Amino acid sequence: MGDSELPAEIKKLIEQSQEAKTHAYCPHSKFHVGASLLTKDGKVFNGCNVDNVSHSMSICAERCAFFKAISEGHRDFKAIAVASDMADKFISPCGACRQVMYELGGKDLEVYLTKPDLSWKRTTMEELMPLPFDEFKVASK
Ligand code: THU
Repeated sequence: MGDSELPAEIKKLIEQSQEAKTHAYCPHSKFHVGASLLTKDGKVFNGCNVDNVSHSMSICAERCAFFKAISEGHRDFKAIAVASDMADKFISPCGACRQVMYELGGKDLEVYLTKPDLSWKRTTMEELMPLPFDEFKVASK
């Protein structure tokens, strides 16, 4: 897929994830991450990583965006864009985030891994999370 084929709302989502990155609270990791989550009805929830001196209490940008959306009543998601300052590598969600994103976003969620120059790589939760633990499907949504 070339850049010209990228839908306008996804191009904007990628830009928003770069903006979200500027709000990262990361005095410990010094690693800025932004994530912008698009609902199926066109709303966007932005998240950033929030570090803590007790390191395991830190939260990643992706989960921040999802928890904001869920806590405001949204359940149906189309895409998420993730941004970092790495110029030579597409940021890719950690394992913990993949588990959460799979459950809340579903296997078809589009995931755009980006670089600061706005270049992107498109993937899906199905690709990022093969052989998932997804027994939650028996529980109610
Ligand atoms: N981080 C994210 O926010 N998302 C990722 O995909 C990878 C890691 C954060 C967690 C922590 O604040 C910092 O980046 C270093 O791991």
